[in-house]
Amino acid sequence: MTEGLYGKSLLDLTELTEENFIEIIQLGIGMKKDSEKYKTVLSGKILAMIFEKNSTRTRVSFEAGIIQLGGQAIILDTKSTQMGRGEPVKDTAKVISSYVDGIMIRTFSDQMIQEFSKESSVPIINGLTDHHHPCQVLADFMTIFEIKNKLKGIKLAYVGDGNNMAHSYLLGGSIVGMDIAIASPKEYQPNPEYVEQAQKIANTSGSQIIITDDPYEAVKNADVVVTDVWASMGDEGEQEMRTQIFHDYQVNDSLVQQAKSDYIFLHCLPAHREEEVSSKVIDGDHSYIYQEAENRLHAQKALLVKLMAKEK
Ligand code: CP
Ligand code: NVA
Repeated sequence: MTEGLYGKSLLDLTELTEENFIEIIQLGIGMKKDSEKYKTVLSGKILAMIFEKNSTRTRVSFEAGIIQLGGQAIILDTKSTQMGRGEPVKDTAKVISSYVDGIMIRTFSDQMIQEFSKESSVPIINGLTDHHHPCQVLADFMTIFEIKNKLKGIKLAYVGDGNNMAHSYLLGGSIVGMDIAIASPKEYQPNPEYVEQAQKIANTSGSQIIITDDPYEAVKNADVVVTDVWASMGDEGEQEMRTQIFHDYQVNDSLVQQAKSDYIFLHCLPAHREEEVSSKVIDGDHSYIYQEAENRLHAQKALLVKLMAKEK
C-alpha cells in the first residue's frame, strides 16, 4: 500500500516516493490515452495559479488540465494583486486558500512558497521556483517511461547550469533509481544541499550521482541527454557573461556521440538554439521535446487528481 497524496502539497520532489512517481506517471499515461474518462474527476474544484515569473507551458497546461478534469482555474499575478503591494504571504495564503481547492505558484523564492504552503489550507504545487521545477521533471520522467519503458537504471546526463532543473533531476532521479550525471562549470554546479540530499536518497535507491565539470564524462553512455537555458529567469543580467562561461557546455553532435546510440534528447523549453543546444540536436531524430512539453498536461492532470480528488 503506498501513501496517498490527497491533500498534500508538492513543493519539491522529495515529497514523492518512487511509488508515487509510478502512480502519477501511469495515471498520466492513462489520461493521455482516454481523457474522456476523467472529465468530471475534479468537477467543481478550483485551482488558483499565481505567476511571479513568465510562463507559456505551465500556465496553459495547468489551465487546460483543470478544465479537462471538470474544474476551473483562476490566474493571478503578483503585480495586479495585493501581493505586489506587500501584503504578507501569511494573509494571502490563508485568504486565497479559503476560496479554492488547490494553488499552483511560480515564483522566485523557495522560502516564500514554503511559507505559503504552511499557511494554506489547500495543496500547494510548485510551478517553478529558483531551486526547483518538480512538475517539469514529472513530465520528463513520464516521457522517458513512454520511450524507454523504465526509469530505474536509466542514465540521465544534464549538461549546463546547476539550476532548478538540475536540482529536480537530482532529487527525482535518485528517488526512482536513475543514474544522474550533471556537468556544469565549477562556479555553476548544483547547490550542494540538493546534491547531498540526492546522494543520501541514492544510497538506498542504488542510483549513481555524478557531479563533474566535464560534459563528455557526464554524457558517456547516457540514455537521456538534457540541457536548459544558461541564464534562467532572474539571471538575465548575466546572460552575456554566462554565454562565455558556458561556451564548452553546448549539447551538439560531438557531445551526443558519447551517449548511447538510442539516446533521447530532452529540454524543458524555452530553448536557445545554438547556445545550450545546437539546432541539429534539438530538431533532430533523437529529440522528444514536443512529446515532453505535451506530457506537462497529462502528468499535471494526474498530479492534480492525486492531490485534489479523494481516493475512491
Ligand atoms: N518548461 C516550462 O516550465 O515552460 P514555461 O516557462 O513556458 O512554463
Ligand atoms: N531554468 C529555467 C527553466 C524555465 C522553464 C528558468 O528557471 O528560467
